[in-house]
Amino acid sequence: MFDDLHGHHARLSETRITDLFAADPRRAQVFRAQAGDVLFDYSKTCLDAPARAALLALCDSARLAEKRAAMFRGDRLNSTEGRAVLHTALRNLDGGPVEVDGADVMPAILDTLSAMEVFSDAVRDGRHDGAGGAITDVVNIGIGGSDLGPAMATAALAPYHDGPRCHFVSNVDGAHIADTLRPLDPARTLIIVASKTFTTIETMTNARTARAWMRDGGGDPVRQIAAVSTAPDKTTAFGIPDTQVFGFADWVGGRYSVWGPIGLPVMLAVGGAAFRAFLRGAQAMDVHFQSAGWADNLPVMLALHGIWHHQICGYPTRAVLPYDQRLNQLPAYLQQLEMESNGKGVAVTGEALPQPAGPVIWGAAGTNGQHAFYQLIHQGQQVIPCEFLLAAQGHEDDLAHHHRLLVANCLAQSEALMRGQDLAAARAKIQDRYDDAELERQARHRVFPGNRPSTTLIYPQLTPFTLGQIIAAYEHRVFVEGAIMNINSYDQWGVELGKELATALGPIVDGAQDAKTKDGSTRALVDYVLKHRS
Ligand code: F6P
Repeated sequence: MFDDLHGHHARLSETRITDLFAADPRRAQVFRAQAGDVLFDYSKTCLDAPARAALLALCDSARLAEKRAAMFRGDRLNSTEGRAVLHTALRNLDGGPVEVDGADVMPAILDTLSAMEVFSDAVRDGRHDGAGGAITDVVNIGIGGSDLGPAMATAALAPYHDGPRCHFVSNVDGAHIADTLRPLDPARTLIIVASKTFTTIETMTNARTARAWMRDGGGDPVRQIAAVSTAPDKTTAFGIPDTQVFGFADWVGGRYSVWGPIGLPVMLAVGGAAFRAFLRGAQAMDVHFQSAGWADNLPVMLALHGIWHHQICGYPTRAVLPYDQRLNQLPAYLQQLEMESNGKGVAVTGEALPQPAGPVIWGAAGTNGQHAFYQLIHQGQQVIPCEFLLAAQGHEDDLAHHHRLLVANCLAQSEALMRGQDLAAARAKIQDRYDDAELERQARHRVFPGNRPSTTLIYPQLTPFTLGQIIAAYEHRVFVEGAIMNINSYDQWGVELGKELATALGPIVDGAQDAKTKDGSTRALVDYVLKHRS
């Protein structure tokens, strides 16, 4: 399926991106896609028009339009679990009905959103208080999709916070919950136990620890613990009153769930109106994704770049580099979204994939990375496509000079990656300091190969609406890449084996059961733990 594209890759192997700009003065205006006022600039990649046309042809050969309609229509695309994939319904604020098994799911979604808002307003204005007075702090206990989305979005929207402080506990390592709870008042803290299944061992262990902390510290667990889950029987068994339980359906995947009740901490932090703006941004991206032609379709072009750089060029990783400090959790969020969705080895049919389906996603906020791993990005031998994100404007009006520096640094990085610096230029910069062989030696350390691809997602400002647009664009990118590779992006069987083995190892690590059934390494490590545990 990718033969044609491999041909384009070979044809372009000697082409420099700077040559493409020289040959086409309008390249920056043409090699871009825009959704609302979010702009995806992909002109600093080695794609030319014929290669792009070949990539775009994938959309039709993969029957993308048909698959996209099937997703929005509620077909059971998650074929190993027999589930629809309808996170888009959670933000379908003014769209039409969405049917699952013949029943419109929108009334229940909108009712839950209103119930969240009623609860959130009551907590925010102090009517729903704790045993010691108005709630000052919220601790969300969840992991994976029940943590990364709300944690990322809450941090991203810091300028809009006017509610209680929100904290996130995910790791079963007692250090996480201990450090989080230590400074908090158990009588003025609200705990949200967020778990789609309400069985996840990390979350349930942390939830029980938090409940004991609250009870021992004079809090009221009945009033001060809320839950978000698809399993109301289990939330009831945990002792959480129904009025403090916010449900959703199993056709919302964990990593796609921030738009519904899993977003409750975001709503508590920023309020119902800002949360709705976040949903509206995502809905606007849904409309764009469903209506724009392939070449103008921002999520589609994001996805085609993913395919080009990973499947065709063979670059094993992609760096996500937000020049927006408040998006510093975006790389971790995207690691789950992309790698748990598309890190698969078989197609929908069960047949082995002919090539790896998903790259390793990593990254950190700019400019921090510049003083750490950018060395390798610029001069290391492996090529790492870089995905920059940048707001035209920050929120700190009194610190506008900071933002100008931030913008200059972001643009400088993509320029440096593209242009590089040859030996002659490196030599010229230091020729007054060194001579002869030492000049040559020193200059070689200062060569940048350049021609390294990067893209930039640029937006006016990181508002709730814009954040919704960005996150929905990434979700649809995952969908498009999965559709082209014909994989199920919505299950995650790869996480199960480790869970099973951890359960079996529990009694062994407790010292209650012998490790003799385990391999030599595991036995030796268990031995070490047992010997060193005081
Ligand atoms: O183990 C993986 C996973 O199932 C993720 O897909 C999910 O987001 C996370 O665990 C948490 O699951 P839950 O919300 O059911 O606790």
